[in-house]
Amino acid sequence: MKTLAVLISGGGSNLQAIIDHIEAGHIRARIGVVISSRKDAYGLVRAKKHGIPAYCISKADYEDIELFNRALLAKLDEYNTDLIVLAGYLNILSPEIIRRYPNRIINVHPSLIPSFCGKGYYGLRVHQCALDYGVKVTGATVHFVDEGTDTGPIILQKAVEVHEDDDANTLSARVLEVEHELLPKAVSLFVDDKLVIEGRKVKILE
Ligand code: GRF
Repeated sequence: MKTLAVLISGGGSNLQAIIDHIEAGHIRARIGVVISSRKDAYGLVRAKKHGIPAYCISKADYEDIELFNRALLAKLDEYNTDLIVLAGYLNILSPEIIRRYPNRIINVHPSLIPSFCGKGYYGLRVHQCALDYGVKVTGATVHFVDEGTDTGPIILQKAVEVHEDDDANTLSARVLEVEHELLPKAVSLFVDDKLVIEGRKVKILE
């Protein structure tokens, strides 16, 4: 059975979706460890409620970024991680970690990449930019992580209609629901070896 490491920075609703799908038998994997970049992330509470080892590894606790990256990599290796799942994780992973886990890191982003993504696009800002641009649809994307920001091969996407009376909060809530559907599905496809990467494209085996 494959082992997941889920990285978070906040509420952990995407983590919860993965936990729920595992416990319902929809994902044939186990979460070996949850790692948060912030001490106050409620996702740490969610992990502990389900008996999952959970740690905060914060840049603030390390003298320099190199020591931080080394501590994060050591924890990932300590738990024999097969797949790293970025579930609202706000740090950019070091090239060393990405090279150590080639095509074994996935991320969920709250827009239809390549729109409204890249440096500085996270949280409510993503949705505000979509609203300001006047798009009629936005959505969620799950993709493999490469050394760029939100640039890896796309695994799954799903559109969400923008309503005239939406603000960033109402729109983000509807997109989050889609994230909770797509991320567990992408994890399940990965652990069942149904994802084949061909250049920029990801083929899904039936
Ligand atoms: C959400 O805003 C999501 O769009 C993005 O990061 C946040 C994660 O939320 N990926 P949660 O911590 O999973 O609830």
